[in-house]
Amino acid sequence: MRRFDHKDLLGIGQLRVEDIELVLDTAGSLKEISERDIKKVPTLRGKSVVNFFYEPSTRTRTSFEMAAKRLSADTVSLSATGSSMVKGETLIDTARDLQAMNPDLIVIKHSSSGAPHLLSNRVEAGIINAGDGINEHPTQALLDLYTIREKKSKIKGLEVAIIGDISHSRVARSNIIGLIKMGAEVTVAGPPTMIPPAIEALGVKVTYDPAEAVKDKDVVMLLRIQLERQNRALFPGLREYASFFGMNSDVLSLAKPDVILMHPGPMNRGVEVTSEVADGPYSVILAQEANGVAVRMAILYLLIGGSGN
Ligand code: CP
Repeated sequence: MRRFDHKDLLGIGQLRVEDIELVLDTAGSLKEISERDIKKVPTLRGKSVVNFFYEPSTRTRTSFEMAAKRLSADTVSLSATGSSMVKGETLIDTARDLQAMNPDLIVIKHSSSGAPHLLSNRVEAGIINAGDGINEHPTQALLDLYTIREKKSKIKGLEVAIIGDISHSRVARSNIIGLIKMGAEVTVAGPPTMIPPAIEALGVKVTYDPAEAVKDKDVVMLLRIQLERQNRALFPGLREYASFFGMNSDVLSLAKPDVILMHPGPMNRGVEVTSEVADGPYSVILAQEANGVAVRMAILYLLIGGSGN
């Protein structure tokens, strides 16, 4: 029997290939629950999950909430502005207080890299990293891997381009680690100011030319410009970025004829992607959203309901 022997999900880096395959296979089994009339099973009845979102979030927050509810777990949602952290309470004290109420899992999204790791050493509840600063966004990478495998029937051997603000993107980092582990070939592209030095050490190719990045690729993944994480101007303006790095139909036509176009959201239409491409026939962006619920159900199940702890 395959086991998921982890208390927490802090990053893709901690997962073995077998762990990733187990998450994807489990998500595949759970996905049909969301297609039923009654979208609920009793699997996690009696378990409780705290969704602690210290950053704004639409997709991650909603899908974790839906995932937990569809498995019948009790959920509590807490935002930084709605918690006593605005009165000066520290993250660790907040987490200890939450722990005193004995939740099974705490899902945390935080603007500081390492915040989930800090909590994991201090609370008994399992911790799920729902995005920490510029470090990792493991559940996003898992839902992206699931979507790629669903659309392409494999991951190994695929050629993937990741284009945009690589330096500030936890989605890029988690996806690079996950895709390389699963045997894909990854090329990253963006303005030189947005590509971290020595990123080749992760096993990726680098180009500053989006057309070269896209040529003959199976998967093109676009990223948002993360203005909120930049402490200096890294390019002249959004119009220049759109004109040099924005994905349009002409550039996308250089990819393989059955390319899939991905974006983790939130999306800046007219900046990193034209609406024609975002809503076009190659886009799997809405499939990513739908798969986010199934993959997060799988992670909750494996951490507190299934063959894990
Ligand atoms: N992809 C993602 O993390 O989206 P949210 O910021 O809406 O959660």
